[in-house]
Amino acid sequence: MSGQGDAQPMTAHKSGPLTGTASVPGDKSISHRALIFGAMAVGETKITGLLEGQDVLDTAKAMRAFGATVLHLGPGVWSIHGVGVGGFSEPADVIDCGNSGTGARLIMGTMATTPITATFTGDISLQKRPMGRVMDPLSLFGTQAYGRKGGRLPMTVVGAANPVPVRYALPVASAQVKSAILLAGLNAPGQTVVIEREPTRDHSERMLLGFGAALTVDKTADGNVITLTGQPELRPQTVAVPRDPSSAAFPVCAALIVDGSDILVPGVSQNMTRNGLYLTLVEMGAEIEFLNPRTEGGEPVADLRVRFSGNMKGVEVPPKRAPSMIDEYPILSVVAANATGRTVMRGVRELRVKESDRIDAMARGLEACGVRIEEDEDTLIVHGMGAGGVPGGATCAVYLDHRIAMAFLVLGMAAQAPVSVDDASPIATSFPIFEGLMSGLGASLSRG
Ligand code: S3P
Repeated sequence: MSGQGDAQPMTAHKSGPLTGTASVPGDKSISHRALIFGAMAVGETKITGLLEGQDVLDTAKAMRAFGATVLHLGPGVWSIHGVGVGGFSEPADVIDCGNSGTGARLIMGTMATTPITATFTGDISLQKRPMGRVMDPLSLFGTQAYGRKGGRLPMTVVGAANPVPVRYALPVASAQVKSAILLAGLNAPGQTVVIEREPTRDHSERMLLGFGAALTVDKTADGNVITLTGQPELRPQTVAVPRDPSSAAFPVCAALIVDGSDILVPGVSQNMTRNGLYLTLVEMGAEIEFLNPRTEGGEPVADLRVRFSGNMKGVEVPPKRAPSMIDEYPILSVVAANATGRTVMRGVRELRVKESDRIDAMARGLEACGVRIEEDEDTLIVHGMGAGGVPGGATCAVYLDHRIAMAFLVLGMAAQAPVSVDDASPIATSFPIFEGLMSGLGASLSRG
């Protein structure tokens, strides 16, 4: 997998109209959580529509290592016999979370209040990412951690034998940190409270309620105050994982910038903690119709009809919107390059600690393709070149980041000259069918 195998260069060529239906795989965030909560319930949890990307497969493997029985029954269909809250056993070997920050941070939280020891590692991308942001609050439960300089993996976590509940105000808007604390709070007596100033994705809260935990969310002047009562017995669930809006973003944005396109993307989440990209695209003048609104897998969804939009204009993205589109800035900057005027993305410093430094990766690749960029620590500004105006003709470095790879391949579908990425293999972490799905719509992709 990414980082371990050979690099797989890929090239996108200017493509004909994209047409047809783009059925994207299951949501990555919800897939991780379904496996983890299933492992903490007593009895059998059934999952359908699970994303079988490498990140999620690594979490499934980790749940087995902690003692849960995890069975793959068919495409997207999984069964987990959980061990109960506090029932994790000590893993025999190192837990390798591959490329996944979500997997690493949520699993660290899950074991943090059980008296066992586990050592976590990941690929060279994950080994660069900060874990102090989860270990700081987890240490308040009594958990200890010994990692590399700067709180980096590999890291050994010693779970608290007598955990105490925690009250913690998140210093960064992070659903991963919030979720790690809630997962740890499950096995602490009393009430664990997390306060988030800006709402982040709320899948853990929704799922905790579904699995029968006592959890409340109060909206206050300080933000959301989330209170969890510890030591419940979680009831097993049937989880139908909805499609991933972060994956849907790639065919949606490709159709917006490839001349003549008209596609349907079914079941895209309209959850307010995930839909910031779609609000922004509409503000830019994107032709998107939101059809057939309904609930799927506990999430509000709609079918999106997306047409080529040759007159999109740059916008200022409100910084408050960042948590609801944090993974979508790379692909938004590709759309911005095909709009007219400046698109200003402020308050985005979190992008620097994702699978790669996404501000730097996008800035360097877009510049190589002939797009003018301004950046500082917390800002990315793209100077649009209008529909079809990007020269292209470059190879962009991906830095083991699936979303950077997909963003530049989409850019190449509308650019004047082909755009290559140095390694498309990380795409398998979140969207293993990307190449086939996009080719099926009419995208011109080639290996090498
Ligand atoms: C995720 C939360 C986000 C996001 C990541 C998935 C999650 O990270 O970037 O891809 O599933 O909780 P942060 O919460 O660290 O911003």
